[in-house]
Amino acid sequence: MDIAAGIDELRARLGRKRSIAFVPTMGNLHEGHLQLMRTARRHARFVVASIFVNRLQFAPHEDFDTYPRTFEADCEKLASCGVDLVFAPEERELYPEPQSFFVEPPELGAQLEGEFRPGFFRGVATVVMKLFNIVRPNVAVFGKKDYQQLMIVRGMVRQLNLAIDVIGDEIARAPDGLALSSRNGYLSAQERAEAPRLHQTLLWVKSQILTGMHDLALLEGRAIEKLKQNQWQIDYIAVRKQSDLQLPRLSDRDLVVLAAVKLGTTRLIDNVEFSV
Ligand code: PAJ
Repeated sequence: MDIAAGIDELRARLGRKRSIAFVPTMGNLHEGHLQLMRTARRHARFVVASIFVNRLQFAPHEDFDTYPRTFEADCEKLASCGVDLVFAPEERELYPEPQSFFVEPPELGAQLEGEFRPGFFRGVATVVMKLFNIVRPNVAVFGKKDYQQLMIVRGMVRQLNLAIDVIGDEIARAPDGLALSSRNGYLSAQERAEAPRLHQTLLWVKSQILTGMHDLALLEGRAIEKLKQNQWQIDYIAVRKQSDLQLPRLSDRDLVVLAAVKLGTTRLIDNVEFSV
């Protein structure tokens, strides 16, 4: 496995390859990321992963400085799942001058995650666009863990006519149901024991809807109450349409319940897709 820190170096290594699958990450890799690598492996002859903690998508009060950086261990993991090339640029390689052109996501970018993390999706869309232009992949793999991010990337690829096939991979979970995340490492032992309640609550919302509950606002409120009783802070729990993450009507069948919560100082997101 090769490692490239520079854009020129990366391009020289990629040459004229015509079957490239790309998986962007911020590192501190876990089994969820590695699953995406294996999916990428099945879709192209050459697999590129990137490791870059993108300042543009962090608000000033967020965890950019403390975000776990575990480069050596990450590279070992990537090599073990057949990644061919890792792109790990320094900040000055990707942002040699202050970024003043941006990819501005549509209204969806201001909802759900965007409501609580203003500017987040603009930062994500801009860096993903830059990475796509640098790597020029045929296929890109993203996790459904970040459901809204996947939707925004798909929209960007479609509306900006990028010739990239975007693949959404399933959420990798711990045996107790907690979605794997680099931020789970911030949880205390007690919080970690509490954390699976998030997935359980989303499954409860799903089961309520499958047994005929139609009042989504009431249901969301009950789910929020359940979690609040356990000292959780809730950013949102929302039932939306899978297709565009807008509010479902009674006739909509393919739904997803999404949530963002804080356990102590750690912010967790998760979602469950289902069809009625
Ligand atoms: P990061 O949080 O490192 O996630 C990289 C990719 O791994 C994303 O597509 C994310 O959805 C996926 N992923 C994370 N946890 C997962 C899990 N438990 N199961 C399945 N997939 C999972 O998302 C980002 O980085 C950044 O926003 C990025 C796209 C790299 C842009 O900076």
